[in-house]
Amino acid sequence: MSPETAFHLYVHWPYCTSKCGYCDFASYVPRGPWDPARFVAAYRADIAALRGRTGARELGSVFFGGGTPSLAEPAVIGAVIEAAMAAWTPRADCEVTLEANPGTVDKQGLRALRDAGVNRLSIGAQSFDAAALKALGRTHSLDETKHAITWAHDIFDRLSFDLITARPGLTEASWTAELGEALEFAGEHLSIYQLTVEDGTPLARDVAAGRVTMPDEDTGADLFEATRRIMADAGRPAYEVSNFARPGAECRHNLAIWRGADYGGVGPAAHGRLTLEEGRFATRHAPDALAWLKGPPAPRMDALDVEERAREHLMMALRLTEGIRTAVFAARFGEAGMTDPRELMNRGALDEAVGLGLIAADDDGVRATEAGVLLLNTLTARLLN
Ligand SMILES: C[S@@+](CC[C@H](N)C(=O)[O-])C[C@H]1O[C@@H](n2cnc3c(N)ncnc32)[C@H](O)[C@@H]1O
Ligand code: SF4
Repeated sequence: MSPETAFHLYVHWPYCTSKCGYCDFASYVPRGPWDPARFVAAYRADIAALRGRTGARELGSVFFGGGTPSLAEPAVIGAVIEAAMAAWTPRADCEVTLEANPGTVDKQGLRALRDAGVNRLSIGAQSFDAAALKALGRTHSLDETKHAITWAHDIFDRLSFDLITARPGLTEASWTAELGEALEFAGEHLSIYQLTVEDGTPLARDVAAGRVTMPDEDTGADLFEATRRIMADAGRPAYEVSNFARPGAECRHNLAIWRGADYGGVGPAAHGRLTLEEGRFATRHAPDALAWLKGPPAPRMDALDVEERAREHLMMALRLTEGIRTAVFAARFGEAGMTDPRELMNRGALDEAVGLGLIAADDDGVRATEAGVLLLNTLTARLLN
C-alpha cells in the first residue's frame, strides 16, 4: 500500500451563533452582520497563496469546518469550492464535506449547499436527549436536529452526524437507549466524541467549582466500550477512536490526514501539513478573523524534521483501527533509513504492551487491540517515549 499522494484542503469558518460551554475551537460569535463578499475575497486570496506554495496537485477532498460553516451563505461556500477546483485538479471522487448545525439550516439551504458542490454533510447533533442539549448549551432543539438529519438524507448521498458521550450524569443504560435512537436516524457514518474538559472553558470552571461532575473513569470506560460494541453490531465499526462507518463510507478527508497525507488550511486558525521542495512543514494561520478578512496574512510555517514527522505519523496512525501500516511507513520514511515502525518505539514498552494483549505488532504493522484502544493515550505516550 503506497501513501496517499493527493492533496486535501481544510477551510475554516470562524463564526457561531453562540459559544458552547465545552468548546475551545477557534470560533467566535460575530459582533454584527458580516459581508459575504469580503469572505469570498479573503478565501480566494488565501487559496491563491496556498496554490503558490503547493504548485499543481491532485485534490482529494475539501472539508469546511468551524465554527459553524452552515452559517456561511451557500454562495460563499460555492465560490470557495470553485476556487479550490480551479486551483488544483480535483479527483473524480473528490469529497466535499461541510459541518452543519441543526437550527441553522432548512431544506432549501441544504439544497443550495448541494448545488454549490457540497457532497457530504456532517451534522452537529451532539445528543438525542433534549435535556442534554440544553445542558451542553446547544441552541437547537431535538426536533430541529431530527428535521435537519431527515432533510439531509433526502438531499445528500453521504451523511454523518456528531454525538458527544461521557457527559455528566450519563449511564450505560441511558446512553445505550440514546445511541439506539440516534442509529434510527443515522447514515453510514457517525462521529462519537467523549466530552473533554478543555482548559479555560465555562465547563472547566463548572467542574472546578463542583457545579458539574464528570463521569468517573469506570463509567467513561463502560460508555466507551458500549459505544464500540453497539456501533460494531450496527454494521458501523470504529475505524478511528471516535469515528464509525460502514466499510467504504469512512470520511476520506480525515482518513487521508490520519494516514499522513498533505493538507492545506485556509481561513483563520486553519492549519495544515505541506510537503514542499524544502521539506515538510506544519502551517498555522493566526486565529484573528478580522485580521484575516483584511487580507489573509501568510501562515506560520514550521519545518518538521524527519524524526518529528515519523513520530507524528505513528501517533496519528495508532488512532486508526488499521493502525500503523509498515508498507505506508516505509514508503514515507524509507529514504531516511526508517522502514519498520517498531524501530522508533520504546522496545520494552512495546514488548510489554504486546504481552498484555494491548498492542498487536507484526511485519505488516502495529495496531491497538480492542483492549488497548481504551488505553490509547497512555500506550502511545509509553511507546513513543
Ligand atoms: C468544532 S465542532 C464544529 C461543528 C459544529 N459547530 C457543531 O458544534 O456542531 C466539531 C465537533 O467537535 C466536538 N467537540 C467540540 N468540543 C468538544 C469537547 N470539549 N469534547 C468533545 N467533543 C467536542 C463536537 O461534537 C462538534 O460536533
Ligand atoms: S457550535 Fe460547534 S464550533 Fe461553535 S461553539 Fe459550539 S461546538 Fe464550538
